Amino acid sequence: QADVFTFDPGFTSTASCESAITFIDGGKGELLHRGYPIDQLAAKSHYLEVCYLLLYGELPSAAQLEDFEGRVTKHTMLHEQMMNFYRGFRRDAHPMAIVCGVMGAMSAFYQDSTDINDPWQREVASIRMIAKVPTVTAWAYKYSIGQPFVYPDNNLDYASNFLRMCFAVPAEEYVVDPILARAMDRIFTLHADHEQNASTSTVRLAGSSGANPFACIAAGVACLWGPAHGGANQACLEMLQEIGSVDRIPEFIARAKDKNDPFRLMGFGHRVYKNFDPRAKVMKESADEVLELLGVENNPVLQVAKELEKQALADPYFAEKKLFPNVDFYSGIILEAMGFPTSMFTPIFALSRTVGWISQWKEMIGDEKQKIGRPRQLYTGAAYRDYVNVEDR
Ligand code: SDX
Repeated sequence: QADVFTFDPGFTSTASCESAITFIDGGKGELLHRGYPIDQLAAKSHYLEVCYLLLYGELPSAAQLEDFEGRVTKHTMLHEQMMNFYRGFRRDAHPMAIVCGVMGAMSAFYQDSTDINDPWQREVASIRMIAKVPTVTAWAYKYSIGQPFVYPDNNLDYASNFLRMCFAVPAEEYVVDPILARAMDRIFTLHADHEQNASTSTVRLAGSSGANPFACIAAGVACLWGPAHGGANQACLEMLQEIGSVDRIPEFIARAKDKNDPFRLMGFGHRVYKNFDPRAKVMKESADEVLELLGVENNPVLQVAKELEKQALADPYFAEKKLFPNVDFYSGIILEAMGFPTSMFTPIFALSRTVGWISQWKEMIGDEKQKIGRPRQLYTGAAYRDYVNVEDR
């Protein structure tokens, strides 16, 4: 029995829930999934094993892992009629709009796994969403570029299947590059769960009313889309591309420090981490490795990113505000080098985070004590007053 330890950073009174899934120590820059540090999981585990850990609380035996991967693999196909949803969107729709819509629509196609009071249906819904979200996401990409949908190939591992559904075309042979598959799997792992962030809290709040799991996950996708949250990876790469060269970095650092300028360094800062984001460290190493293996280590955007990080971290303003690269700072550079457009960065974050949302939703629904969430407010409006007829105003 693992030692149960509780960490009280002095905010027990404001904690939104109890959870045993992910632990973050913002001061130390520590992130644990069921007690295991993220850097060890990124180096030694792989995404579906991390999914098992998040869902069930322990690392699986070889037999348990094989069974779990088999169950996920069996559910990678989407109901054929769901293709019609894609064609209802404009071609230039942001893939996040499509993913949000299709994930919610799953509640209309998989009604046999929407009864939240049935533990077996909760389990099936969880497996279905983890299994199908790569297909939903890849097809959103294919639709946005006018290419035919590619069905999953269950002979491939999870990350390779996603890459093939994104980049294969019927007219040509497509072989998944194992380097890209490993980098993709690591990106999935680094984004899998992150305590009570905005989108996870959204999923919990939606789930607390008894909404079906697919609708709750669609709510999480919607929240993640914002540039202050999961949308930061797209905003960060677009910022790096706008900076364009290292000699323009001082101009943007000055803007980020100017209180009259709404500009912020995207991919910098974090509500909880006040030391460093452990995921960003792994992502930076992965960026170096992937870009070198792809022969684009001299990618100007990577050079700008590294110089920006160096200058910002040397600037007293950012040190004082405890600002440094977060998980979104380097991820976009890797995804762009892998061939993804910036519009696919946040959908890939949502794909990765689906297991975190599902795990937290299951933990909450499985707790008999849980009640509907009902945040209160500090009222700052008008005091009591009687109605005034329009002719007297
Ligand atoms: C994610 O919660 C999670 O765990 C989220 C996430 C996950 O895995 O789920 O980790 C994923 O969302 C990472 C964050 C991605 N967002 C960005 O990179 C967008 C840029 N970052 C900022 O918008 C901001 O840093 C936040 C939103 C991430 C955090 O904002 P906070 O906690 O509200 O911090 P703050 O705004 O109170 O900042 C403190 C000070 C402020 O100045 P003062 O009002 O004290 O004078 O630092 C400044 C801010 O203006 N500041 C920045 C800055 N971030 C904060 N100044 C310049 N550039 C920035 N990026």
